[in-house]
Amino acid sequence: MNIQWYPGHMTKTKRMMIESLSLVDIVIELLDARIPLSSKNPDIDELAKNKKRIILLNKADLADSKATEKWRDYFKGCGFNAIAVDSSSGKGFLEINPLIKELMEEKLSRLREKGRIFAPSRVMVAGIPNVGKSTFINKYTGRKSTKVGDKPGVTKGKQWVRIKKDIELLDTPGILWPKFEDPSAGIKLAITGAINDDILNITELAAELIELLVLICPDAIKNRFGVECGGFKEPYDILLKIGEARGFKLKGGVIDEERTAKILLDEYRGGKLGNITLELPE
Ligand code: G4P
Repeated sequence: MNIQWYPGHMTKTKRMMIESLSLVDIVIELLDARIPLSSKNPDIDELAKNKKRIILLNKADLADSKATEKWRDYFKGCGFNAIAVDSSSGKGFLEINPLIKELMEEKLSRLREKGRIFAPSRVMVAGIPNVGKSTFINKYTGRKSTKVGDKPGVTKGKQWVRIKKDIELLDTPGILWPKFEDPSAGIKLAITGAINDDILNITELAAELIELLVLICPDAIKNRFGVECGGFKEPYDILLKIGEARGFKLKGGVIDEERTAKILLDEYRGGKLGNITLELPE
């Protein structure tokens, strides 16, 4: 399956990202904990090379916790601090502010030496569409946060939200374009719901998911649908069996493969098949 999907406004997106980057000290990069590499923008390392960085493995509530630990170690090995979070509940957020403080310590002590005591750390959130940027910002800023308004010299329209006395967050996230050149990343992005289903062949996509599940976690299909995968050669046949198990039939007794595919994807995305990470560090 080849996902033919090109984000429409990549140049504009990139320009806005660069503009926002020039305003901040720290970039919080959101990745989907189920597909950390596939949901990572390949150019962010170059774009944000002069910035302090935090990686959030978001949607960790839907991922396999052991796999998430492996990913944390992997990113640490690459020189990045990674924190597992669930932005819907705020789980994992307690690690964020101390890390911001730690990352800013050097710059702040330099400023202190020059006689400047107070300089709030400026942070922005970035990530591909649907990775959870808005959800994160809403939860992280909370109801108690105060808008501190435009700052002199800051591009008009940019708003800062005060998180703590010494941390300010840019309230509009940087939107990064996904990895649309790597077909397997495209498939995983589509499976997790990062790409609008309307442009996809849903049955093929469900078959791709089944193929991955058979490899990673074969019991997931058995436990959820009562279908043993062992006896089938083709993922498509497993899809039909799932439809049969659920009683999704069209006139004449034909299995409604589209409905089955949609349900399978919905249930995977909603975590009903279990906490399943679709890729591991090499
Ligand atoms: P974006 O700004 O990066 O485009 O993403 P957004 O916050 O809109 O989140 C995309 C979807 O992911 C939303 O679901 C959101 O609720 C969900 N989400 C974000 N963070 C987490 C998380 O940590 N865990 C889980 N389980 N879900 C998360 P939606 O179905 O599109 O919307 P809604 O049904 O929540 O309204």
